Amino acid sequence: CKGFNGYDKVLLRNPRGSSAEVYLYGGHVTSWKNERREELLFLSSKATLKPPKAIRGGIPICFPQFGSHGTIDQHGFARNRFWIIDNDPHPFPTNTSNKAFVDLIFKPSEADMKIWPHNFEFRLRVALGPGGELMLTSRIRNTNPEGKPFSFTFAYHTYFSVSDISEVRVEGLETLDYLDNLQKKELFTEQGDALTFESEVDKIYLSTPTKIAILDHEKKRTFELRKDGLPDAVVWNPWEKKAKAMADFGDDEYKHMLCVEAAAVEMPITLKPGEEWKGRLELSTVPSSYCSGQ
Ligand code: BG6
Repeated sequence: CKGFNGYDKVLLRNPRGSSAEVYLYGGHVTSWKNERREELLFLSSKATLKPPKAIRGGIPICFPQFGSHGTIDQHGFARNRFWIIDNDPHPFPTNTSNKAFVDLIFKPSEADMKIWPHNFEFRLRVALGPGGELMLTSRIRNTNPEGKPFSFTFAYHTYFSVSDISEVRVEGLETLDYLDNLQKKELFTEQGDALTFESEVDKIYLSTPTKIAILDHEKKRTFELRKDGLPDAVVWNPWEKKAKAMADFGDDEYKHMLCVEAAAVEMPITLKPGEEWKGRLELSTVPSSYCSGQ
């Protein structure tokens, strides 16, 4: 169906009432709701949902470059291109009887290949499980002729909706090494406690466990993030000053969002022609008391 701006989006619903929305612009999940129809992702009230900017909120896909450390624009171009529905999603399995899902594909145009001179097929499946869990699976194949490998970095730049950033804790990243984008990407080591937030944060945690939890005490909700093929995790909140500097982000919205991004940043992924990489993210929620042991 059409989004309010006239652009195509796909709605996924499961019988218990959970839902997700995927814009073809960016192959971008803009909404994920639980059975009570509560929105679980943050989408800025100032997001434009149309070219040329990437959509501010939801789950932008950063490819073929994460961040600004490379030769192309910040976070690559997959997030601001139109994807199409993939009617031949091979090699995705077809046994998906208990899931609502959509398959999208993005192939570079000639203009894209002037920015990044490689041929690829990027297949994305977005699926909603029977318990309302949201699953994103990316398969990227090198379709370059003549033995030309390529390397890329990647992130599912997920914006979670939280009641109050000062009340949120992230578990699973304790004691890990991280690169701090606010301090010239220097290497630090996290303390033993769960992460809490009282100022701007922009960190790339390296080689993390596959499961990370975001505890929102006020909402009594815990997000669980499971990832596969994506060793790193980026944690970002722009806080007050940067929020004010972003045209597509409300001044106070930083209080109600937190990005925890399943990513492959430190070690770029290299594919030879014909090779394929797979990166998977699964998001679910559980009542807080279950996960925090309170
Ligand atoms: C995060 C980066 O992933 O994305 C930050 O670590 C960046 O450095 C943020 O500011 C937002 O990026 P953009 O391009 O969507 O404004």
